[in-house]
Amino acid sequence: MKKQYSNNQYDRVNVFRIGLRLFVNFSTFNVLYLQIDESICIQRQLFIFCSRDNKTMAKIISFISRKGGTGKTTNAINLATTLHSLGHKICLIETDTNYTLNTLRQMELYREEVNKKDLFEILGSVDDQIADELHKIKSSNKLDFIIVDSAGKTTDEGIKKLAMESSAIIIPTSLTQNDLLVTYQTVTDLTPAREINKNLKIIVLPNRIHSLTGSHTIYDALNDLDAHILQARVPQRMHFVNFSTISAEEQYEAVAHKILNEIG
Ligand SMILES: Nc1ncnc2c1ncn2[C@@H]1O[C@H](COP(=O)(O)OP(=O)(O)O)[C@@H](O)[C@H]1O
Ligand SMILES: [Mg+2]
Repeated sequence: MKKQYSNNQYDRVNVFRIGLRLFVNFSTFNVLYLQIDESICIQRQLFIFCSRDNKTMAKIISFISRKGGTGKTTNAINLATTLHSLGHKICLIETDTNYTLNTLRQMELYREEVNKKDLFEILGSVDDQIADELHKIKSSNKLDFIIVDSAGKTTDEGIKKLAMESSAIIIPTSLTQNDLLVTYQTVTDLTPAREINKNLKIIVLPNRIHSLTGSHTIYDALNDLDAHILQARVPQRMHFVNFSTISAEEQYEAVAHKILNEIG
């Protein structure tokens, strides 16, 4: 049975109902507002997370060449120790199955007492797996750069895949006729990778340069290459050959800075 109200009671009930509706509406609005606000927050956080992820995606710098003996290992380790000494978070991966750098690191650790926490990691891989491995670890927020010292030739499938994963490829070269021809071939081999990986930078690094060689001689020799020619040189010197996996060679800093400028 419906309740009967007097006029006065009716007004009070109505005021109560309107108040209740307003309260419910207000609460619903508040909940809705909070939900929207929360979802914006989540989206914002996701956006921040994603952009941070993109921003801090480790850059892969690969040392690649058509042939051995051009200075890949020498420059990869000098770059690695220098970037590490400058405070960048890095790791080095070598694909040469002699694992020279891993072995040297073990020997140095045996000889010197070093806190392992102060060192960058040196990992070993093989040419036909390195690209897949890199694909998995490059989004690691822990690293700024992954330096790859590859042993394979640019004609190998594994090295082609590595080129697709890389941010930059560094091709060390001396100015001997043989090295120049090899460098020319290396750059040509990398053209298809560059067409697909639009962000890929191919950098030619003048290496083993005689102290009396003028800059114009270097750039005249390398001018025809379809690549960035690094505006720095690595002289022919024992400083760079007697490398360590722990301490950096001070004289390599200028080269490392130029490489960082090129990579951006
Ligand atoms: N800047 C340099 N000055 C003197 N010797 C160098 C320099 N760069 C490389 N070498 C020497 O050239 C040889 C080949 O270098 P390496 O780095 O092992 O080449 P890759 O890794 O391409 O095979 C080594 O004996 C190395 O000591
Ligand atoms: Mg090597």
